[in-house]
Amino acid sequence: MNENWQEVKNVAEKWVEEAGKMLKESLHESLDIQTKSNPNDLVTEMDYKIERFLTEHIEKRYPQHKTIGEEEAGQHIGSTDGVIWIIDPIDGTTNFVHQKYNFAISVAVIKDGVGKIGIIYNVMQDEWFTAIEGDGAYLNEKKLPVATPVNLRQAIIGLNGRWLAREKQTDEKSLHELVRKSRSVRSYGTAAIELAFVACGRLDSYINFRLSPWDYAAGLVLLKETGMVVTDFQSQNPPLLQQSTILAARPELHEELLSYVYNHKGFDY
Ligand code: IPD
Ligand code: CA
Ligand code: CA
Ligand code: CA
Repeated sequence: MNENWQEVKNVAEKWVEEAGKMLKESLHESLDIQTKSNPNDLVTEMDYKIERFLTEHIEKRYPQHKTIGEEEAGQHIGSTDGVIWIIDPIDGTTNFVHQKYNFAISVAVIKDGVGKIGIIYNVMQDEWFTAIEGDGAYLNEKKLPVATPVNLRQAIIGLNGRWLAREKQTDEKSLHELVRKSRSVRSYGTAAIELAFVACGRLDSYINFRLSPWDYAAGLVLLKETGMVVTDFQSQNPPLLQQSTILAARPELHEELLSYVYNHKGFDY
């Protein structure tokens, strides 16, 4: 079947916009906050509510499509055949709870393992990072330019300090060394927005030692459209059904950074 991706994207944006309104409204009410894998891994009733809202709309309009979400949807899915929506209902739940700021809804649509649509909606800043495969990436109405090179000395790297705290290696190509050599490091607490920031050049790179497909699937589509490179630490395409390390960067910088993280297998929590 030949999908009209522009139409699918328009419909998806309408649902995401509605979901964004629900999130904004919820900030005025008291939230039910639970923990998942550890005391710092938060989930709220809004994470579930938004994921259900989106999956119900998808199932109704596109009954042949499948859905994978962080909280509940599609945990049984073991193949990338067909059309799959990969959803993070709130990326940056800790920010949502503590800051009421810097969180996103991330939606990717893939077909037979290839990213077709990427939408990252930065809710409180009302910024839409969107892309359709082969059609460029956009920030709101503005097409994003194709990436130009910078070297590590001039680069701003998105990186969570916790990964640094875990590093035991002291050799020259360590993460510590990478941080020292870069111009500066930032940490926003939302992988989806950080990947969108690489796509639009606000960050030159984003590094994460353990992410899930819903954190990066939409970002992959955006980054490809802006000529950025995104792989795991072994320079392979990130998988869409399991966790992965992630290195996203401008083309030449990606190669330079790879040598710093290549030997890292990732960290466990
Ligand atoms: C998390 C955020 C965070 C990243 C974590 C993710 P969540 O997603 O993207 O920035 O460091 O690894 O799990 O749980 O807020 O959707
Ligand atoms: Ca989570
Ligand atoms: Ca996430
Ligand atoms: Ca989430």
